[in-house]
Amino acid sequence: DKAGYKHFMAKEIAEQPSVLSGALSAYLTETGIALPEPGLDFDKIERLVMVACGTAFYACLTAKYWFERLAGIPVEVDIASEFRYREPPITPGTVALFVSQSGETADTLAALRYCQGKADKIVSVINVETSSIARESDLALPIHAGAEIGVASTKAFTCQLNALLLLALKAAQSRGRIDDDGLHEFMEALRALPGVFNIALDRDEVIAKAARQIAEARDVLFLGRGLMYPLALEGALKLKEISYIHAEAYASGELKHGPIALIDKNVPVVVLAPRDSLFDKTVSNMQEVMARGGKVCLITDAAGAKAAGEDVWQTIVMPEVREELTPLLYALPAQLLAYHAAIAKGTDVDQPRNLAKSVTVE
Ligand code: M6R
Repeated sequence: DKAGYKHFMAKEIAEQPSVLSGALSAYLTETGIALPEPGLDFDKIERLVMVACGTAFYACLTAKYWFERLAGIPVEVDIASEFRYREPPITPGTVALFVSQSGETADTLAALRYCQGKADKIVSVINVETSSIARESDLALPIHAGAEIGVASTKAFTCQLNALLLLALKAAQSRGRIDDDGLHEFMEALRALPGVFNIALDRDEVIAKAARQIAEARDVLFLGRGLMYPLALEGALKLKEISYIHAEAYASGELKHGPIALIDKNVPVVVLAPRDSLFDKTVSNMQEVMARGGKVCLITDAAGAKAAGEDVWQTIVMPEVREELTPLLYALPAQLLAYHAAIAKGTDVDQPRNLAKSVTVE
């Protein structure tokens, strides 16, 4: 049931505030973060290997920053179809973590089975709790996104990020990297996030306007640094998936190493850049784009919009949140941008050509 929305995707984007709120209450207690039994012995983890496909892979790439920064755990992230055939060595102390909305993705399941008997623990982050991946894991963490019908993953992505961030925070606490006050501050910021999501969704008109312009392009680039780099990849995937516009994402710092050759007035560049610790670096990349006639669509916060100057083509202003939470928040404008571009193109948003919701064959 689309609940009055034109598409499941629109409904699933719009319900993210309430879905996130439910997902948070499944894990947050008065005093901390409660994981399902049997939990995990975070002190013993020497290495985390994360494996997934598509959007779930981008959730893993984001979580790498959190696990490294917050919990001090070395992390490797891989695409399931590469991992399974490369058969990488799994050293003692390794926890293998698989992320899959459906829990049935063939490559991810095969990668999980490869790790059975080799990794210390098999953990999964899934939406479908009865799925094969959940059943074959030592610990399965539900993301509590509710059924996702649209082929383009939206609320499952933000809920994957949420579950992974909570796991990283729990690891940080067990490893003595965050004290009680620090954890509580974080929990407060998370509890406030559904309300912040609502503010972001209220920017729909501005985002739709930018999307209609972007929809005229044949190629679009997405740029981001740090936590915004995986989100740039996700934004580009979303756009190509449902609007069929060719989109590529690069880490901003890679621009000079090749992709800058593509820049001209016909290639819009979506820059994801909250005013965080890396903002100034991204702005200088953005200026390189503008100096070559590139049209920048900047997704930032009020401070970022002010600092970016007036030559920016389109600015989408997000509310401010602490740096670690920006991937969850900035996912919303990225999704809306793709959605409205697809509407402008008149494509089948919920059932894009050639794609299946669950890829159960490799
Ligand atoms: O069910 P899974 O999370 O394992 O699916 C992984 C990908 O197939 C999926 O995220 C795909 O990339 C989406 N269509 C992206 O919107």
